[in-house]
Amino acid sequence: MSEPEAKQQRRFVFERDRHQYLVCRGLIRYTLSRYAPVAPADWQFSYNNYGRPEVLRGLCDLPLRFNLSHTRGMGVLAITLSQDIGVDVEDTNRGDVGIHIADRYFSPREVADLRALPASQQPRTFFDYWTLKESYIKGRGMGLSLPLDKFSFELRHQPPSIDIEPELNDPPTDWQFRQFNPNDRHLVALAVRAKELPLRIEFREAFGC
Ligand SMILES: CC(C)(COP(=O)(O)OP(=O)(O)OC[C@H]1O[C@@H](n2cnc3c(N)ncnc32)[C@H](O)[C@@H]1OP(=O)(O)O)[C@@H](O)C(=O)NCCC(=O)NCCS
Repeated sequence: MSEPEAKQQRRFVFERDRHQYLVCRGLIRYTLSRYAPVAPADWQFSYNNYGRPEVLRGLCDLPLRFNLSHTRGMGVLAITLSQDIGVDVEDTNRGDVGIHIADRYFSPREVADLRALPASQQPRTFFDYWTLKESYIKGRGMGLSLPLDKFSFELRHQPPSIDIEPELNDPPTDWQFRQFNPNDRHLVALAVRAKELPLRIEFREAFGC
């Protein structure tokens, strides 16, 4: 890890979180090194105003982009060339979320669709919306400065599609979304700004942590 990363790691109170932070730095550095002739310890990163890390320009010839997400029991790293990319993984077993979060953060249409579902289907659909919404704001790289209620996902068809209010100034057809269930507990959503480009996705399981 770089010195700023080591400093960030020391800020975590719990050993579990320090360990996950370390594992994720390894995941980023070793995975990037599979794609370009840069040693894992030599990767350097820049950060935008919202904290999104990017490979430092000029470090390698390929325009590698990446996005990381982690939750209890899983870290997911998405890598692409050039395109904006965002990924989110959530632990669907966590019990501290639910319709009250949707009321607060989701768009009115998403809340109405969620509330219209039988109670047994609500938890899974809640996580569908949550991970997709997170993947989009992470793809934009602007964190929560992007209002979560100003865009809506349509889940009736696969892959899911997005409606974005004009004030966000982002054409919805620019984006493609995919969802994955790596196991029966975790749900992953991926957002790629890839208009009309066929998406070819390769999966690799890195290591247990
Ligand atoms: C910070 C944020 C970008 C992601 O937070 P998160 O969901 O807690 O965390 P994730 O594990 O998915 O992603 C964290 C990683 O994203 C990356 N990241 C940081 N800032 C980012 C940004 N502005 N854009 C994209 N990626 C970012 C980093 O690699 C970070 O890893 P690190 O914390 O180990 O350094 C932001 O979207 C956020 O705060 N989200 C919470 C929103 C919320 O409350 N949603 C509720 C209902 S939708």
